[in-house]
Amino acid sequence: MADLLERRYKTLGPYSPLFYAQPLEFVRAERVWLTAADGQRYLDGYNNVPHVGHAHPRVVEAIAQQAGTLNIHTRYLNHRVVDYAESLLATLDAPLDRIIFTNSGSESNDLALRIANQHSGARGLLISDFSYHGHTQALAVATTGLVAHEGLGAHVRPIRVPDLDAADASRPEAEVLASSLAEVDAAIASLQEAGHGVAAVLFDSLFSTEGLNRVPSGYVAGLAKRVRTAGGLVIGDEVQSGFGRTGRSFWGHQNHGIVPDLVTMGKPMGNGHPIGAVALSAALLDEFGPRNMYFNTFGGNPVSAAAGQAVLDVLAEEGLVERAASGAAGIRAALEGLRRDHPWIGPAKGEGLFFGFDVYDRPVGEAGAVPDPGRTKAIVEAMRARNVLISRIGRTDSVLKMRPPLAIEPGEVGILVETLADSLAEVEALSRT
Ligand SMILES: Cc1ncc(COP(=O)(O)O)c(C=O)c1O
Repeated sequence: MADLLERRYKTLGPYSPLFYAQPLEFVRAERVWLTAADGQRYLDGYNNVPHVGHAHPRVVEAIAQQAGTLNIHTRYLNHRVVDYAESLLATLDAPLDRIIFTNSGSESNDLALRIANQHSGARGLLISDFSYHGHTQALAVATTGLVAHEGLGAHVRPIRVPDLDAADASRPEAEVLASSLAEVDAAIASLQEAGHGVAAVLFDSLFSTEGLNRVPSGYVAGLAKRVRTAGGLVIGDEVQSGFGRTGRSFWGHQNHGIVPDLVTMGKPMGNGHPIGAVALSAALLDEFGPRNMYFNTFGGNPVSAAAGQAVLDVLAEEGLVERAASGAAGIRAALEGLRRDHPWIGPAKGEGLFFGFDVYDRPVGEAGAVPDPGRTKAIVEAMRARNVLISRIGRTDSVLKMRPPLAIEPGEVGILVETLADSLAEVEALSRT
């Protein structure tokens, strides 16, 4: 392991992040279990890319079968790609009736920005404060959730997304809604005054990098309305919240009662095979298409389409979205139970199989209680020591992040929660010493 780490540093450099004080090396995985090089098995409570389960036989077979038959770029007719486009569009609401395939979430968001800029004739962009949408140049200047040397673009305005569970907890929801939307109005006015205009708002329906903020009802709809009134487009980034992750709906934006103008996707779409997409209306594509010869060598190749179709088929046949919904209720109850023993953790956050809670340095509500990243990190490491993988997110890295493959069984959710109980007890005992 030490040798592999050294070789990685010597070839890839030391800057690409690795999880854990002692990084893990995995050699194979099946459904929600990963096997490390030393033979130990780990329960995957973290990874959303193997959405329907690691190495799902249907997805593996679809990829292998198509790769053994034909794989080619996108300038020839191929029924797999069109079949998949039809299946994917069937999950989306009107007027989203066209798809452009890409290879990643970053590429999808970059393209969506390009379409929005051309449509609006403006560059101004609203994003939430402490978010991440990808690694291209256009997205690096709109990144607030991790380090990007470019700094914020002059045309970008971060808006603070409210969280009814955290700092805003003591204020009435209607008041939080009004002040948050007033902040959106101010950001739009500032973009207009600076001459940038408004091209788009780009947001993740779960506000996941931000820390799974619980926003007031009507917040996202109010945000979308304001951006559209200012001439901009609404880009729903479904890289995290899409494909049934939230259980309540197939797409995260549906939980907020809106239909974005552009929906971007990636991560879970191919269960690990790199594929992404932008969904949009025919009207918007007909505006963008004739002005740009958009061609993407790998985007929408037959093998990627076969992987994507297999994911949709498995989701439907195994009822995984419904399972995410039914599992979520039990998880919430279990997390609330943990709060009784450990009052320094906040209420259950998130939706469906993307859940977590804030971790504080003392009981929630006690004078002076502040988020505690050290404790949060200690919980993640304590879970790893018990062979369960989770992580942390949020502005201060003090929101526990759990996001298992949708294939997780109720008994395995039980293991996750029991291990969490043991880890919380260990960390609490340590903080007393
Ligand atoms: C919300 C969101 N959008 C976009 C991306 C970028 O996707 P990719 O890494 O596939 O380019 C990420 C990656 O973590 C993400 O979380």
